[in-house]
Amino acid sequence: MIKQTGKSINLRLAALSDAEFILALRTQTDKTRHLNPVENNLKNQQQWLKAYQLRQQAGLEYYFIIESQQHEPLGLVRVYDLQPESFCWGSWLIKDGAPQTTAIQSALLIYEFGFQQLGYKKAHFDVRKANQRVIAFHQRFGARIIGEDALNYYFNYTYEDYLTIKQKYRRFLN
Ligand SMILES: CC(C)(COP(=O)(O)OP(=O)(O)OC[C@H]1O[C@@H](n2cnc3c(N)ncnc32)[C@H](O)[C@@H]1OP(=O)(O)O)[C@@H](O)C(=O)NCCC(=O)NCCS
Repeated sequence: MIKQTGKSINLRLAALSDAEFILALRTQTDKTRHLNPVENNLKNQQQWLKAYQLRQQAGLEYYFIIESQQHEPLGLVRVYDLQPESFCWGSWLIKDGAPQTTAIQSALLIYEFGFQQLGYKKAHFDVRKANQRVIAFHQRFGARIIGEDALNYYFNYTYEDYLTIKQKYRRFLN
């Protein structure tokens, strides 16, 4: 079973029954202004999850629910656009009121998944230029901006970068 166990949170694969939780978070407008819009339609969300599950079974994409170890859903994060040398992660969203270390823990667990479990040596992701908080987050982790366009910064992150950070933040891992 694909699952990442952290210090006080876990990542588990999204199921069809998560459609309501996902839709509620993805339609919370103050949280999603830096993400692609999602239609507020449960049937469509369920359809999207069904199509995603086929991609997941083919090893093309992994959509995780971030949850407490008591199984309270706290957020979302996704691995996608698997290139020969690099995995992409994003669709990262944490609900209001989640414990303060949820962001650091979930980022560490995504890197554990991509680097250790899937065996990649590099990660890539893009962040909207207006999303200052998330840009700062990735820079504290040692990620590098390798490109930009009008809307986004494009980041790279290597396994070596991660090993340094993992040492520094090992108290946030299991
Ligand atoms: C992206 C998202 C999941 C990040 O979670 P977050 O909780 O906002 O992350 P933060 O950077 O505030 O980090 C949480 C806490 O950990 C701290 N922290 C983060 N990285 C840290 C680090 N490397 N070292 C020490 N502390 C750190 C922060 O200072 C913050 O503490 P504070 O609450 O006292 O300020 C969240 O902002 C969100 O849901 N945003 C909306 C959607 C979005 O923009 N997604 C990203 C698209 S690219």
